[in-house]
Amino acid sequence: MEIDDIITELRSDKWIKKFTFQNQKEFGQFFTPNWLSQKINLMDPAVFHNPNKTIIDCAGCGIGELLVEVLIKRLKNGMDYLDAISTIYGVDIDPMAVDICRERLSLNQSNFFKICEKNIICADSTKIKNWKFDGTDPYKTGQDIHNETLFEIS
Ligand SMILES: C[S@@+](CC[C@H](N)C(=O)[O-])C[C@H]1O[C@@H](n2cnc3c(N)ncnc32)[C@H](O)[C@@H]1O
Repeated sequence: MEIDDIITELRSDKWIKKFTFQNQKEFGQFFTPNWLSQKINLMDPAVFHNPNKTIIDCAGCGIGELLVEVLIKRLKNGMDYLDAISTIYGVDIDPMAVDICRERLSLNQSNFFKICEKNIICADSTKIKNWKFDGTDPYKTGQDIHNETLFEIS
């Protein structure tokens, strides 16, 4: 796919149409409109050039309105898709938002989706203890994980 097609796909309104606002009041679900998300230039420019710089929407990434724009800027700067998504992270309490965000950022490509499964997680960000994004339970402390390894608790 050409870069312009990728951008069109990432910004498509089909992603928001997939989302049903069942928990809008409870979770404060108002997604940033695309014209506003595109104004993320005020961030440290290194984020858009250097794949070792990580970016996280930790207070509720929704369907990825802000993360998608970081991805697009990285791609426009010539970054490889894999490098570009590998250091993009998000957390949302709503499983539907997380599913859509993962599909969207990965464009449903299985190798990218695997990364998004680890990097975009469903959790209450006010209660996360483990911010490792390595597939381990976000609510477990390092000590819990240490003990489980020692005592083989499953
Ligand atoms: C105002 S929306 C913003 C979404 C996205 N950042 C954007 O700019 O479009 C807030 C998001 O936070 C999520 N959210 C609300 N409470 C949360 C919590 N405790 N932990 C994680 N996500 C939460 C909601 O599900 C919703 O998707």
